[in-house]
Amino acid sequence: MCGIVGIVGNQPVAGRLVDALKRLEYRGYDSAGVATIVDGALARRRAEGKLFNLEKRLAEEPLAGTIGIAHTRWATHGAPTEGNAHPHFVDGVAVVHNGIIENFSELKDELIADGATFSTQTDTEVVAQLLAKYRRDGLGRREAMHAMLRRVTGAYALAVIFADDPSTIMAARSGPPLAIGHGHGEMFLGSDAIALAPFTNEISYLVDGDWAILGRDGAHIFDMDGNRVERPKQVSSAAAYLIDKGNHRHFMEKEIHEQPEAISHALGHYVDFLEHAVRPVAGGIDFAKVPSLAISACGTAYLAGLVGKYWFERYARLPVEIDVASEFRYREIPLNPESAALFISQSGETADTLASLRYCKEHGLKIGAVVNTRESSIARESDAVFPILAGPEIGVASTKAFTCQLTVLAALAIGAGKARGTLTAADEKALVRHLAEMPRVMAGVLNTIQPSIEQLARDLSKCKDVLYLGRGTSYPLAMEGALKLKEISYIHAEGYAAGELKHGPIALIDENMPVIVIAPHDRFFEKTVSNMQEVAARGGRIIFITDAKGAAASKLETMATIVLPDVDEVIAPMIYSLPIQLLAYHTAVFMGTDVDQPRNLAKSVTVE
Ligand code: F6R
Repeated sequence: MCGIVGIVGNQPVAGRLVDALKRLEYRGYDSAGVATIVDGALARRRAEGKLFNLEKRLAEEPLAGTIGIAHTRWATHGAPTEGNAHPHFVDGVAVVHNGIIENFSELKDELIADGATFSTQTDTEVVAQLLAKYRRDGLGRREAMHAMLRRVTGAYALAVIFADDPSTIMAARSGPPLAIGHGHGEMFLGSDAIALAPFTNEISYLVDGDWAILGRDGAHIFDMDGNRVERPKQVSSAAAYLIDKGNHRHFMEKEIHEQPEAISHALGHYVDFLEHAVRPVAGGIDFAKVPSLAISACGTAYLAGLVGKYWFERYARLPVEIDVASEFRYREIPLNPESAALFISQSGETADTLASLRYCKEHGLKIGAVVNTRESSIARESDAVFPILAGPEIGVASTKAFTCQLTVLAALAIGAGKARGTLTAADEKALVRHLAEMPRVMAGVLNTIQPSIEQLARDLSKCKDVLYLGRGTSYPLAMEGALKLKEISYIHAEGYAAGELKHGPIALIDENMPVIVIAPHDRFFEKTVSNMQEVAARGGRIIFITDAKGAAASKLETMATIVLPDVDEVIAPMIYSLPIQLLAYHTAVFMGTDVDQPRNLAKSVTVE
C-alpha cells in the first residue's frame, strides 16, 4: 500500500524521485521520504503527511546525490510520524519497503538480544537492522541481501542502498509489485510503470521471489536460491496516460464525468455494435462448459461482482459463489476443478484478491481477471484477462472503474448465456442494444442531474447517518452508495437489501436519518415501494432515486426524488451509479474533506 521508487542515475535524483512519488501517492499519503548517497554517506529528507510537505522540506534543504530511493507511506506498523517515515537508516544501510514483514517481532527480539537498538516502531526497520548486522558480520552487500531475504517472511517490495556503494540499488519482491525501468546509463525502480513513465517505457517486472541488483548499465535478477533469472523487457503504455484534473476540481469529479467515454472503450472491446452481439471472449475459460463460477474481490470491486452474480445466474443460469477476498481465501470453500473463477480488481494488485486467485488456481479452476491494469499481478497470473479499459483512476474512491467492471461483467454474462444456450440470438441482440445506449444515457444524466444532487448534498452534509436501500441489482448498488458516501464524506452510511429493513434496521428510522431508496421501475418496484411505506409510516425521510414511471407510480412524499431516464434492467446498475457517486462527491465537497485522498485510505491495498 506504500509506493517505492529508486533511481541509479547520472544526474541528481531527489527531484525526479519526488516526481515519481507523486504518481504513486494513490498508494498512501501518511508520510514520505527520500534518501541519497552524498560523499560516501547516506542523506535523507522526510516529512509527515502528504508529499507537498516533503517537497517543502527539500526546497528548504535540497538533497544532492545521483543515486537514491524514496517512499510514500500508508502506515501499517507505527504511527505516521516523521520518525517512522521511510527510508530507514541503520549503519550505512537505507531501506524503503511496501508490505508487511510478518515475522518482524521475532526478528526484532533476536536483534535486540544481539545488541541492536531500534529507533522506529515499524516492521521495516528489521530489514535495515538485519542487513547492517550481516555487514558487521563480514558479509558482502550481495550476500547480506540474500541472507536477509532468507530470514524475512511476509509481503514486501524492497529497495536498498548502501552508503559504501553509490552505484547500486538492490531490490526484492515477494507479493507487492515491483517494476524495473531501463534507461540510457540510468536504471529505475518503482511500484508501478506509471511512476516510471516520465523516465522510460522499457519495463521488466520482478516476479514473486525475485531480487535484483541495479547498476547504471542494467539489472541482474536472481531467484531465492541466488540463481540468475531473466525477466523480459516490455514496452509499457503507461506514458500515454495523461494524469491531470483537466477542468475539474478533483480527480474523482473528472473520473465520474469520464464514464460515458470509458464505457464506450470497454464496450468497443466486448461488443460488436454492427451485429449487436458480444464478441467471443479471450481463450482460457469456456463458459459453456463450466458448472459454476466463483467470484472474489474487495470493496467496490466486490460489489461489482455481486451485481455480476445476479447477471450470470439470470442470463447464463450459472451458479455463482461469491465472497469478499479476505474471507474467500480462508473459508476453505469446496471448489470444483471444472469450474472457473473471476477476480475483479481495478489495481490488479489487491493482496487478498491475489491470494484468493492463487487458492482457486491451486484447486485447478480456470482463472479470469477483470482488471484495469493489464500488467498487474492478478492479470499476469490469470488464464484469461478481461480488461475494463477505464484508463488510470487516480481518485481513491472508485467510480469509472466500477461502472467499467459492471460493463465487462454484463458482456461476459451475456456471452456466457449465449454459449450455454440460455439466451437466444434475439435476447442477445436486445441486451446488446441496451448496453450500446449506455454512453449516451450516461452523458445525458451527467448533464442534467447536477443541480438537484448539489441541493441534496447540502442537506446530507448535515446528517450523521444515512441508510441506502435497494432490491435485486439495486441491492449491491445500495451498498456501493453507502461505501462511497462513508469513505469520502466520513458520514456513517449502510446499504441494505430493502426486504431486510424490517429484520432490524427499521429500528433506526427517525426524522434525522435520510433513507435513500434506489428503485427503478423494474420487477421489484412494488415490493420496494412497500418498504418505503414502512419507512414513511415511521417518520423517516426518503430520498427516492427512480425513473419517470417509478416517480409517477409512487404516491409517497419524499425529501427529494431524483428522476433518471427509463432504462432496461441490464444497464440500470451503471446508470444508477451516477447519482450515488455524485451525491457522495458533492456531500464531501460541502464538508470540505480531501475527496481524492480521504483519510486512512489508499488506492492499492497490497497488504492483507
Ligand atoms: C472504494 C474502493 C475500494 C476498492 C478496493 C479494491 O471506492 O475503491 O473499495 O474497490 O480496495 O481495490 P481493487 O479494485 O484495486 O482490487
